[in-house]
Amino acid sequence: MPDRRKFLTRAGYTTLSALLTMGFLQKDKQKEDQTTNEIAANYPNVNSPLRQLAAAKGKRYGAAISSEFLQTEKDYADLIARECSIVTPNGELKWNATEPQPGKFTFESADAIANFCEKHNIEMHGHTLFWHMGRPDWLPYPPTLKMIERHVKGVMGHYRKSKVLKSWDIANEIIADNENEADNATYGLRKGVKRELIRDLFLIAASVDSSKKFYLNDFGIEGATWKSDRFLKMIEYLKNSDVKIDGAGIQSHLWFSTAYGFDEKGFNSVLKRLNDLEVKPIITELDIIIDTPLPDSIKKLDQMVADSYKRYLDLCFAAKVDTVITWGITDRHTWIRHPDWMPGKTFRDNPSLWKFLRPLPFDENLQPKPARNAIAKAFSS
Ligand code: XIL
Repeated sequence: MPDRRKFLTRAGYTTLSALLTMGFLQKDKQKEDQTTNEIAANYPNVNSPLRQLAAAKGKRYGAAISSEFLQTEKDYADLIARECSIVTPNGELKWNATEPQPGKFTFESADAIANFCEKHNIEMHGHTLFWHMGRPDWLPYPPTLKMIERHVKGVMGHYRKSKVLKSWDIANEIIADNENEADNATYGLRKGVKRELIRDLFLIAASVDSSKKFYLNDFGIEGATWKSDRFLKMIEYLKNSDVKIDGAGIQSHLWFSTAYGFDEKGFNSVLKRLNDLEVKPIITELDIIIDTPLPDSIKKLDQMVADSYKRYLDLCFAAKVDTVITWGITDRHTWIRHPDWMPGKTFRDNPSLWKFLRPLPFDENLQPKPARNAIAKAFSS
């Protein structure tokens, strides 16, 4: 037994015998047993709601949610309330939902989510003020600085006093998918996007409401990739421009198959770089998509998904990640079952394969899957 443990044991016995002698322990024994039982009863076990397991470790678990299903599906609303301590509106805070006409703001669907969050003590993550998709027809990409200023003042201003909205994806997916689509070799920004425009966007946001956490959010950066290299350079540029940036949203739409694995070393290097830059890594849109060649059963597919969740989250938590948001909570509403977003032509052309699109912790009947237990174990370990 290592010295440290010997020391603690010896110290423990000494204290115990002194208390017995003084008679304190006898008198408080009942109270102590009760307290211990209360702690045991309250301390979450692996079947506890994910928000409870996360909170026990000072972390948050949540999901992207839809105001439509919150209002039409009571079982869905109950599941979110039970499992999530933070939620991201799936589309309700995108430009086409909040400013459908120039200067005309609408917040009904986003406010419905904010009200739900207030009722259930859930945080709301604002997604997103600047994105090449989810735009109303009148809006160019990139928007002019004047359009950006009006939008940020309108939308962030509406939630400045919100008790639940505490963070924003100030900009989303600004790095191009590859160098052919990039305007700038160093930062890899999408065509027409200058790094100074993103700097000014963050500065305008800070002038409207610096009480929230500000994130730069992107996908395809979960490893050593062309994209993650440029994402990190953009983070560094913002930091060096004295811009308020608190976190990096790592979307984490992960694709695995029996054909290829995961770039663990590269992912760890991204997490380390972010921690060195003092920009907190946040897991913002996690789902595990098993691509072709598919395993030969749903049972095996669900286990592959569960194993991938556990392995990914173990790496995240080892790098002090404290917020994990899955992109949806149930396969019933996963975005990748929509033909526009299915992982590749194989799935789009073969509806018989759609049953293999099972990227989330709960199934279409809102029943827990091995993936939920894997997430629970990752939070608990
Ligand atoms: C997706 C939604 O889930 C879909 O319902 C919508 O049709 C398109 O956008 N990265 C993002 C999210 O940042 O906003 C996207 O959400 C998924 C990819």
